[in-house]
Amino acid sequence: MIAEGILVLDFGGQYAHLIGRRVRELGVYAEVVPYHRWHEAINPDVKGVILSGGPRSVYEDQAPKVPTELFQMGKPILGICYGAQLMAEALGGRVEKGSAGEYGQAELLVKQPYPLFAGTPSRQRVWMSHGDLVVAAPPGFERAGSTQNCPWAAFQKPPYLFAVQFHPEVVHSEYGKQIFANFVLSICKANKNWTAEDYGPRLIAQIQEQVGSGRVLGALSGGVDSAVAAALTLRAVGSRLTCIYVDTGLQRLDDLSHVEQLAEQLGLDLRIVQAQDRFLSALSGIVDPEQKRKIIGATFIETFEQAAGSLGAFDYFLQGTLYPDVVESGGGLTAIIKSHHNVGGLPEKMGWRLLEPLRWFYKDEVREFGSWLGIDREFLMRHPFPGPGLAVRIIGPVTEEALSIERRAHALLDQILMEEGVYYDVWQAFPVFTGIKSVAVKGDARHYGWVLAVRIVQSQDAMTADWYRASPELLERIASALTAQIPEISRVVYDITTKPPATIEWE
Ligand code: XMP
Repeated sequence: MIAEGILVLDFGGQYAHLIGRRVRELGVYAEVVPYHRWHEAINPDVKGVILSGGPRSVYEDQAPKVPTELFQMGKPILGICYGAQLMAEALGGRVEKGSAGEYGQAELLVKQPYPLFAGTPSRQRVWMSHGDLVVAAPPGFERAGSTQNCPWAAFQKPPYLFAVQFHPEVVHSEYGKQIFANFVLSICKANKNWTAEDYGPRLIAQIQEQVGSGRVLGALSGGVDSAVAAALTLRAVGSRLTCIYVDTGLQRLDDLSHVEQLAEQLGLDLRIVQAQDRFLSALSGIVDPEQKRKIIGATFIETFEQAAGSLGAFDYFLQGTLYPDVVESGGGLTAIIKSHHNVGGLPEKMGWRLLEPLRWFYKDEVREFGSWLGIDREFLMRHPFPGPGLAVRIIGPVTEEALSIERRAHALLDQILMEEGVYYDVWQAFPVFTGIKSVAVKGDARHYGWVLAVRIVQSQDAMTADWYRASPELLERIASALTAQIPEISRVVYDITTKPPATIEWE
């Protein structure tokens, strides 16, 4: 634990990170750790433990478990779904396969409001997702709530042990937030310590300790994560941080100027490498999207390595890895760190150690932190942009003409969405150069020009996405502006496919 707070033990449940976020939204630090590493993580800073859901059955051979000892340490524990069943089984209750399972909304009747359900009504909607259920609570436990299909939907042995079969971390559980607040703040008595004012100085001190007198190299991408990582590291090591921005020519129109402004505003040593021609010629005639990605990755590494080589020796490579990227993979639940898509393999080759100061943060926290570090809110709220850039939004070969149309169309679309007050309500919005030509009549003359597709999506995490229900007036404004201001465009179409089945990007 890097701070006092709540330990979330992950049993492979799809919502383990959501539990971490719910706790952090209360201003309390939470750390999500694979269940079998509980003994490494538990220490006096742990004010309470939450056991997540999981796909297994507690009565199966080799079901993931924690020893009974954990429940006897006198720390408050909240078991959720699988975690509740685990608590029941470990302490002498019984868990069986339910006859039907329970998925979706259910009505919880609260039998014992205190302390977990304090301040919530006696009937409330909760979200269920389970096949097994507790049929007998352990000795000494009392029923705290039930649903029609689940007699032990909540059970407890105050002051430490609490269990709920439903998922309070999911928004469909009406009073989930209050339940977490009751557990974290009242039962665990955790302090609100997870604010930028609190963790900022601590993180800076940690970076100083880790880096010592070493030099750090960072790659700025124009995106939020690498910018916040750089701003933070700059506070810690000052002029011993140098950043490189590779202008691949595949970025948005104003990406370079944003990065330059940021560097100036922060006083960051930024080296800009002009490599547009290099990327364009490497991509010449390439149509296959995966090949485009590979070529971009390899060209980036070559360019970056050359640029770095001319700047002397470095000890650390700065990466904007976020908490969800520190993935606990299935099976052994060993931590696998996603490698930076652009510089994979380079840090090892160059002998640089990794510096990942944001690896404890969720995206929304990175934005808040960035603002504490003095980065403009407008910059921090920009839409995510893929590493391979506009190349994966150009169907067919990446040509100078296609890139030029994409860049202008992107800027225009962003501007319209800003003016219409829509930009911040959507996850991503971008034009796609379809590589198709179509006929139009412009100024009384027949015009054979490019078809541009517009994709605007809403999403929480890019895993699923819905197309944005733009008003007809907005769609009309977009189509008129694009065809009028970019003469090469003959026609604009709007993508109304959800993800799944489609992906967000076209390639
Ligand atoms: P898809 O298209 O897979 O995109 O639905 C999900 C999210 O990931 C971004 N994306 C990428 N980001 N390198 C990146 O850094 C890539 O190759 C890449 N492909 C997609 C995409 O913009 C969306 O936010």
